[in-house]
Amino acid sequence: MSEHARIEELPQVGMAFMDDDHEEAMGLLARVVETLEASRDGHAEPEGLRRDLRNFIEHSRAHFRREEVIMKAVHFPPFHIHKNEHDQRLEELVTYVDDLDAGVIGLEDLKDQFLNEFLPWYQRHCDTMDQATARYVEKQAAAGPTKA
Ligand SMILES: [Fe+2]
Ligand SMILES: [Fe+2]
Repeated sequence: MSEHARIEELPQVGMAFMDDDHEEAMGLLARVVETLEASRDGHAEPEGLRRDLRNFIEHSRAHFRREEVIMKAVHFPPFHIHKNEHDQRLEELVTYVDDLDAGVIGLEDLKDQFLNEFLPWYQRHCDTMDQATARYVEKQAAAGPTKA
């Protein structure tokens, strides 16, 4: 299905831990979508959905923090812009789950949010903020040790 192809298309930023994390994130996201698709015709919540959602959110939280630690270490000038994007999206992910709990959104809506809101943002974010961060870190490393 084209959705899975889209999930795999993620720009490489050239910094190992970021690229590894992004790849892992896409795997976890694909699992969430697969679980949601498995229940497309039913109304019952598929088994494992909560676990998959929690895994994806926790991975995102840890990944965002890793990027923030390195941005701080090199005094990345647009640190707050990059971090704000992380914070907003993390909040959005948590809200998805709360909305599901509250019955405000259904499984189809949730899938739509992930594929049509979160995923495009993730791809854009990798291509812009993460890319810029990786380039800056590389430049700083090439310039020698920075002041603490
Ligand atoms: Fe990232
Ligand atoms: Fe980021």
